Amino acid sequence: MFNFPNTRLRRRRSNAWIRNLISESILSVNDLIFPLFVHDREETTEPIPGLPDIKCHSIDGLVPIVKEAEGLGINAVAIFPVVDGKLKSENAEEAYNLDNLICKAIRIVKSKVPGVGIIADIALDPYTTHGHDGILKSNQIDVKNDETVSVLCKQALALAKAGCDIVAPSDMMDGRIGKIRKALDDNDFQNVSILSYAVKYCSSFYVPFRQIVGSCEPSNSIDKSGYQMDCRNAREAICEIEMDINEGADFIMIKPGTPYLDVIKTASDKFNFPVFAYQVSGEYAMIKAATNNGWLDYDKAIYESLICFKRAGASAIFTYAALDVAKNLG
Ligand code: PBG
Repeated sequence: MFNFPNTRLRRRRSNAWIRNLISESILSVNDLIFPLFVHDREETTEPIPGLPDIKCHSIDGLVPIVKEAEGLGINAVAIFPVVDGKLKSENAEEAYNLDNLICKAIRIVKSKVPGVGIIADIALDPYTTHGHDGILKSNQIDVKNDETVSVLCKQALALAKAGCDIVAPSDMMDGRIGKIRKALDDNDFQNVSILSYAVKYCSSFYVPFRQIVGSCEPSNSIDKSGYQMDCRNAREAICEIEMDINEGADFIMIKPGTPYLDVIKTASDKFNFPVFAYQVSGEYAMIKAATNNGWLDYDKAIYESLICFKRAGASAIFTYAALDVAKNLG
């Protein structure tokens, strides 16, 4: 079909303006979601291991950074609580305390920066002493599914009452989307959306995140393979997505991003549904570490690492580099 010399693909690469005209993917500030960490201490500039240039904010400190994000055109932030160890327990009761850290943070950010969408995780790991996303059976290994889902519903209601726009179950329990949807609807929260982490792999790339939220003591060795997906599987991802769409998810998420681009591509080809992707802490850490060693150009590497999500078909992207990228795109 395409024969040299009649076809010379390099002709179409010879100038920036031609390349721009035929580019197949666009990364826009509209696509970016900025994850933020909040703690109940003073604002600090303490570095976070594995997440250089990312800070943990006080509740008040969140407001200026969300305003900055809004000023750059970022549409939504995802807020993660770093919970004081004294408030953690076996059964994560703090997760549905209406006045807990994340609820307070959501209320303040929503009142001060109402134009930015707020996303919050549903999962028990910030609140459990053992760091698992759910409640453990007496063997202290397996996570109980249905009992955990009941607690997740209470957590979802607490977040919705605080003003959260999108709840994002990241726990990988079976059947939680349907139950959370029902709990929200029964309590007049029909307009609170669900972003299901439908395809969350059991990944080694979450370590910096777990170090911040303190869910992996003592040795980063927590094993979530009893609920998070096996990295060898892709067809199973389709099943997860189908179930979550049927149960009432509004958006689905694939996580991590770069190591699972094949799954992002398949999901976005197969379902007429918005697919989000999460460039997780370990992915960001790799690029930052190489940059800080002088081995990569940060701006170029981050852009390339995000445009590939768009090429694969993702709608929106969680990235710790959202502010940097937004500045460069602007
Ligand atoms: C909690 C949760 C995790 C991440 C987001 N929500 C960690 C985990 O499942 O252990 C990871 C995000 C990142 O690494 O940036 N369920």
